[in-house]
Formats: sequence, C-alpha cells, structure tokens
Amino acid sequence: MRFANDFIFGGATAAYQCEGSTREYGKGKVAWDDFLAEKGRFQANPASDFYHQYPVDLKLCKMFGINGIRISIAWSRIFPDGTGKINQQGVDFYHQLFKECHKKGVEPFVTLHHFDTPNTLFQKGDFLNKETVDAFEKYASYCFEEYKDEVTYWFTFNEIWAVCTNQYIEGTFPNGEKYNMTKAFQSMHYMMLAHSKAVLAYKKGDYKGKIGIVQSLEYKYPYNENKLEDIIAAKNEDVLQNQFLLDATFLGYYSDETLKIAQKLCALNQGMLDIEESDLEIMKKAAKENDYLGMNYYQSRFIQAYDGENDIYHNGTGEKGTSRFRLKGVGERMNKEGIDRTDWDWLIHPESMFDMLVRIKQQYPQYKAIYITENGMGYKDDFEDGIIDDTPRIDYVRRHLYYLLKAIEAGVNVKGYFIWSLMDMFSWTNGYNKRYGLFYIDYKTQKRYPKASAYWYKYISQTKELF
Ligand code: NOJ
Repeated sequence: MRFANDFIFGGATAAYQCEGSTREYGKGKVAWDDFLAEKGRFQANPASDFYHQYPVDLKLCKMFGINGIRISIAWSRIFPDGTGKINQQGVDFYHQLFKECHKKGVEPFVTLHHFDTPNTLFQKGDFLNKETVDAFEKYASYCFEEYKDEVTYWFTFNEIWAVCTNQYIEGTFPNGEKYNMTKAFQSMHYMMLAHSKAVLAYKKGDYKGKIGIVQSLEYKYPYNENKLEDIIAAKNEDVLQNQFLLDATFLGYYSDETLKIAQKLCALNQGMLDIEESDLEIMKKAAKENDYLGMNYYQSRFIQAYDGENDIYHNGTGEKGTSRFRLKGVGERMNKEGIDRTDWDWLIHPESMFDMLVRIKQQYPQYKAIYITENGMGYKDDFEDGIIDDTPRIDYVRRHLYYLLKAIEAGVNVKGYFIWSLMDMFSWTNGYNKRYGLFYIDYKTQKRYPKASAYWYKYISQTKELF
C-alpha cells in the first residue's frame, strides 16, 4: 500500500488560531475577541505570530516535505465590518502569503470562514440572520476574483457542525448558549445555503480552480448494538452532526429520514426548522458543483439512549475523564472499553475513519474526491531542551494513515491528508496546553522546533510509504 505520487501531505492552520495581530493592521473585531477577554483564561495574541512568521513556517514546510498548507482568510481582515469598506492591508497580506507559498512549492488550500464571522454581523445574529448569508457570498466572490491567480483550491466553510453545536448546544463558542437544538439546526441550514451561494458564484466566474467545503465528521456507533434504544440514539447524533450536513452537501436537500429526525430533535425545544423551497433550489444546483469534500476526522462516538436532564461538561483543561455529553431525548456519549482516549477525552479509534470514508462512497456515490483536511492528536508535549518526543502522536497519525490507505484500496478517492496542525497554535476552548503541531512553538520567543513527528512525517511524504 503506497500513496500516489500526487498525494498531498499537508499541514493545516486557521487564521485566528495562528496569525495573532487580532486587532492590528486594520483587522475588524470578531466575537471571540470580547468572549475570550471576558473569560480571561487566554487570548489569541500573539498565538503563533503567523502574520509575521509565515516565511519561517513555509520554509519549514519545504524542508520537511510538506507540499500543501491549509490557510484560512480572516474575513474581518478584508472587510472589517463584514461588508462594505475594504481593508487594503489585509488584502495585500494574503497576496504576500500566497506568493510565498508558491515560492516554496507549498500549495495553499484556502478556507474562507474558520469560526470567525466579523463581529458586526455576528451581533446581528450571525448565520441565523440571512443578511450574513448574503454578506458571505459577497466576501467569497471578492476573494475569488482578487486571488484568482494565486488560489486553486478553495473551501467555503470549516466545520459547520462545530460552529453551530459549540454556539448553541455546548456553549463553548460565543455567545455560550446551551441546549438549543433548533438554533443549531437552523444555523447549519443557513450556513449550507451560504456555502451553496458561494459555490454557484465561483462556478459562474468560470475560474480555473476548484471548490468544496470542510465538514467535521464522527462515526456514531450504538453503545450496545443489540439495543434498539441505543441504535436510535446513535442515529439521532448521526443526523445532528453528519447526515444533515452531508445531505445538504451532496444532495442539496434533506432526505425524509434526515428531516424527520431533525424535526424530532428541534421539537425537544418546542422548536421547528424553517426551510424555504427557494433555499433548496439553490442548494440543489450547488450540490452538483462541489469538486471535493474536506473531511476533518478525529474520533468516533459510542452513544446510548438518554432521557435524563441535559448535562454537558466540556473538558477544556486536559484533565482526562472529566467530560460529559448527555442530551435528553438524543443520547449520551460513552467511553468504550479497549478504546483509548486523549487527555481531552477524545477517543482514539482510527478504524472508524475507514468506516466513515466508505460510508460516504456508499451513501453519496456522487462525491468526487475527499481530502482529509484535519486529523491529529492534542498532546501535552515535553520540550526537553528542544528534543520533543511525541511518539503517541506519531502512533495516532500512523494508524489513521493506515486506515486511509485501506479506504483508498476499498475504492474511496482520497487525494490528500492535512495534519492538524502544522505548528502549535491557539486552541479555541483549551488555550495553549493542548498542542497539535509538527513544529513546537516556544510562545515567548516564537521559535519553532521540529518534533519527532515532523521527521517521521517527512520520511512518509518522501517515500510515499507508511512506516
Ligand atoms: C477542528 C478545527 O477546525 C480547529 O480549529 C481545531 O483547533 C481542531 N479541530 C482541534 O480541535
């Protein structure tokens, strides 16, 4: 089993998590700025100072055989208020960044929205307000035209599920609302509408590149596969996180099963999902035009039926065994004997990535290609004088790449893999002790140090074989 010669061995980043300079060079506010300041635990400055250090990071990519980088454009660097006035400094920054990528032979894969709606639009309801949908289409169209000679691979959104669940169900993203199923579904729908409008605008422009979306998927297994209640609970969570968004992506509408379960879950809040026929017309047209799916894949879930009170606790400190996720009428996430977890309670279950890839091929045969746009392991790396032995991370990635190759063998068209993350960076709900990078960052000096995983990854990308 080998990787194809044109397989992308990438590293992933996101603007707000690595750039720093969050209120400099004309950048507009995002909701995170105040949200983090109020909490007072940590903030996104200077993070990995990518705004100034990107030439160093791209040089490291070149030295370590990394031939693709996921970058996101910060919407509020281009349009500080979401629409209207343009910030030329922001526009120029991304020109320079893309130029440097090409100079170093690292293909940029560019995301337009990675959790960072400009504050002005966020305060008006974010994607629950259709004004944001239209503003996103305008911002996307501007970028397509402006960067048409530098960007070939576009993604509209990163992880619509994470945005909506963390904003409205888990309460870990601004504004910290909890247990509101209806808002989560409604906002997922409008974000998919915004995605669809952007895809159609891109195709209308007849640009030479390609476009898709990044979804975050997790295989949902019944905790006890012989129990009907657990089978139903697993399906509830599957629709909530996976199937609703996959239907919207590949079909451009929601299947009867998806809609029925989505409405059942909204009714738990006495709510109802509002989907207009005209939205579906647009989504159906766009669904045929996606060139690929970006799949962020970290873990699976084992779900059992749950009818108690809503009870979610997010482990944002790395204190293993503290997280709880129980939603009344939906299900409860369980640990499973024999399946290890990270310090943040994420299940390490690589074979489930194979199951998800094969499922997409079977359930949505119209998919064209898949990139694993994120996969990696949060770990409390030890610095030890610049020698960073992250063997558990190597093991995690190796096992996932093994199942990725198996999926290719089973006929799934997977074109590349981006490790999350290229270098250590700010983590939204965990701050800085949860490290993911191939390159360690000393946040005081901003110096980069390759971890053992960086040397290992280089070898794989050079030989195209898994060791
Ligand atoms: C998904 C997100 O896209 C990224 O921003 C985040 O830091 C990683 N997962 C790790 O949680």
